[in-house]
Amino acid sequence: MVGTVKIDEIYEVNITALENDAKGVCKINKMVVFVPKALKDEIVKIRITEIKKNFAIGKIVEIIKPSQKRLQSKCPYYGECGGCNLRHQSTDENLKFKKEKITTALKRIGKIDKEPEDVIPSLKDDNYRNKVSFKLENNRIGFYGLGTYQLTDIDNCLLAEKSINDALRVIRKYILDNENKIKTITIKHGNALDEILIDIYSLDDNDVKILNYITTNISNLKTVIFNDKIVYGNGYISQISNGLMFNCSSKSFFQVNSSACEKLYDAAIKVCNLSKEDVVLDLYSGTGTITCIVANHVKKVIGIEIVKDAVLDAKVNAKINNINNVTFICGDVLKEIIKIKDKIDVIFVDPPRKGIDRKTIAIMKRILPKKIVYISCNPVTMARDLSYLTDLYTIKKIIPVDMFPNTSHVECISFLKLK
Ligand SMILES: C[S@@+](CC[C@H](N)C(=O)[O-])C[C@H]1O[C@@H](n2cnc3c(N)ncnc32)[C@H](O)[C@@H]1O
Repeated sequence: MVGTVKIDEIYEVNITALENDAKGVCKINKMVVFVPKALKDEIVKIRITEIKKNFAIGKIVEIIKPSQKRLQSKCPYYGECGGCNLRHQSTDENLKFKKEKITTALKRIGKIDKEPEDVIPSLKDDNYRNKVSFKLENNRIGFYGLGTYQLTDIDNCLLAEKSINDALRVIRKYILDNENKIKTITIKHGNALDEILIDIYSLDDNDVKILNYITTNISNLKTVIFNDKIVYGNGYISQISNGLMFNCSSKSFFQVNSSACEKLYDAAIKVCNLSKEDVVLDLYSGTGTITCIVANHVKKVIGIEIVKDAVLDAKVNAKINNINNVTFICGDVLKEIIKIKDKIDVIFVDPPRKGIDRKTIAIMKRILPKKIVYISCNPVTMARDLSYLTDLYTIKKIIPVDMFPNTSHVECISFLKLK
């Protein structure tokens, strides 16, 4: 039986741990309460903002005894903005937290007792994101607060690359002076040629006055997509990673932290010791990054990806990098994997946050590759999926990479070998 807490009531609490999303954890009258931006061992006064069946959420109103690990955030919006959630602790402590959260997920969800390696740090802790999606409300632009629809109006995001902030300020100037029904704007930066892609979604198809303004005022603007149509440029920007060039259009996935992405792919390739005779399957292949990078080490790679634009990009990417031993299949992994006729030696699998479909895992086990390299941005679903593989495979290594500094998120490589 859980205890009771009252909405809007103030309580003084002792934070005993951090949960998966780095919220502080405490108990009031036996009710578990999560406190965003509180740290372990802190005593804080909180106001209860939300009560659910089995837990409540509290907001810090006063820090009575701060943790020695607490840092003053450099971001002026940090109190309200939901864009990042671990700016109040040093990078070293954040890396320890991320390693620990992977260990916990493996133990609790996967029943797997395996110590991950230390987290590979990111080259940059700030200004690392090459893609940011902003929400708009009339003449305001920014991010919703954590768990709310209240927009924090911002003119600079510390997570975003400098070019994205420069573009944000131009857009901000436009929306301050012009009525509009724009709801979201995504800005991507391509590191190959310092180019900007802007993807605008508006409730009003005639909201196109902004196009003239941004094409005139953003000097490195390469392409604009407005309500799903390419209205300026040819619809993509280019990224360089691991010595190869990748065209990346608006709907195609590309890792958000370009330098950490290189470290991720390097570590993934190194750990599995590929051979020139290997035939590789790359599931959830996006713009073909892993497919193309792996191709130079093996006989053949087959990529499977559901987003049509990403597959079109991937085919071009193979061509511009002079890679001839890859094939891309556009479709749902679950439906396409079953049709694979080649004898597969290694599977790379890099699914979205929800992880791999249970039936797909069953087919992967029927294919029975010698090695599996599972790349994941969600330790919880990764732990679940690994637990379905450990009857046939041994987990050799878990290598976390800090793709998302100053947030609670972490990327992770699991390397498995057939028993
Ligand atoms: C985390 S991204 C990985 C992309 C790529 N491996 C990379 O490193 O850039 C996951 C990809 O899975 C794709 N995807 C999601 N569901 C899928 C499905 N059911 N079948 C095939 N691809 C899917 C997404 O479009 C996205 O490109």
